[in-house]
Amino acid sequence: MVIETLTGTAIRPHLPALARLRIAVFRAWPYLYDGSEAAEARHLEHFAASAHAALVVARQGGEIVGCSTCQPLEEQSDNLLEPFRAAGIEPHRVFYFGESVLLPAYRGQGAGVAFFTAREAHARAVSRCDLAAFCSVIRPEQHRLRPPGDVPLDGFWSRRGYARRPDLVCNMRWKQIDGDEEVENRLVFWTKSLR
Ligand SMILES: CC(C)(COP(=O)(O)OP(=O)(O)OC[C@H]1O[C@@H](n2cnc3c(N)ncnc32)[C@H](O)[C@@H]1OP(=O)(O)O)[C@@H](O)C(=O)NCCC(=O)NCCS
Repeated sequence: MVIETLTGTAIRPHLPALARLRIAVFRAWPYLYDGSEAAEARHLEHFAASAHAALVVARQGGEIVGCSTCQPLEEQSDNLLEPFRAAGIEPHRVFYFGESVLLPAYRGQGAGVAFFTAREAHARAVSRCDLAAFCSVIRPEQHRLRPPGDVPLDGFWSRRGYARRPDLVCNMRWKQIDGDEEVENRLVFWTKSLR
C-alpha cells in the first residue's frame, strides 16, 4: 500500500472516496452509522473548507482503500470544543484527528499506524498545537449488536501513545442502522502530546 498526505486543493477530488469509505466502514460495529451521501456531503464540505486540514490516503494498485483525516480542533463545532474548555485546555492547542477508515481486506498491514504517523507529522508541520486528539464512541458492554469476541481498538491506540480521557466526553448525532431517527451518541476523547 502507498500512503500519501494530501492538503489544500488536492483534498477535494478525493471527497467521494472518503464518503464511500466512511459509509462502508462506519456501518459496522461500533459506529453502526447508516450513512447517506447527503449527510456525507454536508460533513465533508466543512472538512474541505479547512485551510490546515490533511487527508491521508492509502492506495493499493491505484485505488483508494483507506482514508484518514485531521484538522485544527478550533474549526470544529462547539460540542467538540466544550469538553476541552471545561477541562481548562484551550482548543487552539489541539489538533483534531477525525476518522481512520480502511477496508477490512487491507487491515493488519501497517496502514493504521501510518495514518497516525502522517497526521502527527502534519499537525507538527502546520500548527503549534501541542496535543493530538480523536474520539471514540462509547457502547454499553451489553449492547445487543456487540459482535461476539469483539476486541476494541483501545490497545492499538495505547500502543500509538494515546491515553483515554474520561474527563473529555462529547455527544454527536447520527442515524444508526438499528433505527429510523438520528440518535445522540457519547464519545470519549483520546489524547497524545505532540511535543
Ligand atoms: C483503525 C484501522 C484504520 C487500523 O488499521 P490497520 O491498518 O489494521 O492497523 P495497522 O495494520 O497499522 O496496525 C494493526 C497492528 O498491526 C501491526 N502491523 C502489521 N503490519 C505492520 C506494518 N507493516 N507496519 C506497521 N505495523 C504493522 C501494527 O503494529 C498493529 O499492532 P500493534 O497495535 O500491536 O502495534 C482499521 O482497523 C479500521 O479501519 N477500523 C474500522 C474503523 C475504525 O474503527 N476507525 C477508528 C476510529 S475513526
